[in-house]
Amino acid sequence: MTETAIDVNNISFSYGKLKVIDDMSVAISPGTSYGLLGPNGAGKTTLIRLMVGLLKPSSGSIRCLGKAASRELAHQIGYMPQLPALYNELSVRQNIDFFARIYGMKHKKERSQRVDEVIRLVDLWQKRNAHVNQLSGGMKQRVSLACAIVHRPPLIFLDEPTVGLDPELRVHFWNYFEELIKSGSTLIISSHTFDDAAHCNKLAFMRLGKIVAEGSPRELKQATGKLDATLENAFLYFIRREDKADGK
Ligand SMILES: Nc1ncnc2c1ncn2[C@@H]1O[C@H](COP(=O)(O)OP(=O)(O)OP(=O)(O)O)[C@@H](O)[C@H]1O
Ligand SMILES: [Mg+2]
Repeated sequence: MTETAIDVNNISFSYGKLKVIDDMSVAISPGTSYGLLGPNGAGKTTLIRLMVGLLKPSSGSIRCLGKAASRELAHQIGYMPQLPALYNELSVRQNIDFFARIYGMKHKKERSQRVDEVIRLVDLWQKRNAHVNQLSGGMKQRVSLACAIVHRPPLIFLDEPTVGLDPELRVHFWNYFEELIKSGSTLIISSHTFDDAAHCNKLAFMRLGKIVAEGSPRELKQATGKLDATLENAFLYFIRREDKADGK
């Protein structure tokens, strides 16, 4: 195993004239969870798309599992996009089976068993034969998660996976994420909730394409100097500190 699961070195990325990622560096250890937190437009989705190889940085480099980030690594990467990219006319089972096949699960019996396993895991067994367009928003999220993890990838990128999930399922998902991490997978997750953030081993607070603070939830809370600080307090503390440094 490489020492770092992901190495992002001084990358920048722009959409036209708009600089969205500004000289960013990140190192993520294998077998850990890394959370990206930041307001709308901070660059979380763009950073994830760069790390999975769907976008190319204009400068700097990204290495995943010791290799240059590219779509060639797709078999080793699970990616749950912010908006589910599913085939509405196919059933839940057919969608997951489709992703399992494109991610290289060739053995039919093994694939079929694993597809059933992930359907149960996201608690959609009763809906397995329903077409995706007949599902609620939260259910579509769950199918999308199942598609991302079906091939047991060591690197998993989840872009706001808990949006629209009910509280019980959120707990269920985090229990499962923690099992994945224990078994050696590396999880990169973006979120707006401090509830998700509290589960991560390490967090990056992002704003305007930059990381304004990085550390474990505990370290970030301690940095505020207040014993009873919440992660929300810590987030505001770092944003205000950055504003002051910028003279705002
Ligand atoms: N395809 C695109 N073309 C042009 N600009 C884009 C495109 N996608 C994103 N942007 C811009 O890039 C910036 C970062 O967007 P991004 O989607 O990475 O943010 P985010 O942190 O994921 O936000 P959210 O919390 O809303 O999902 C925003 O200013 C956005 O308007
Ligand atoms: Mg986003």
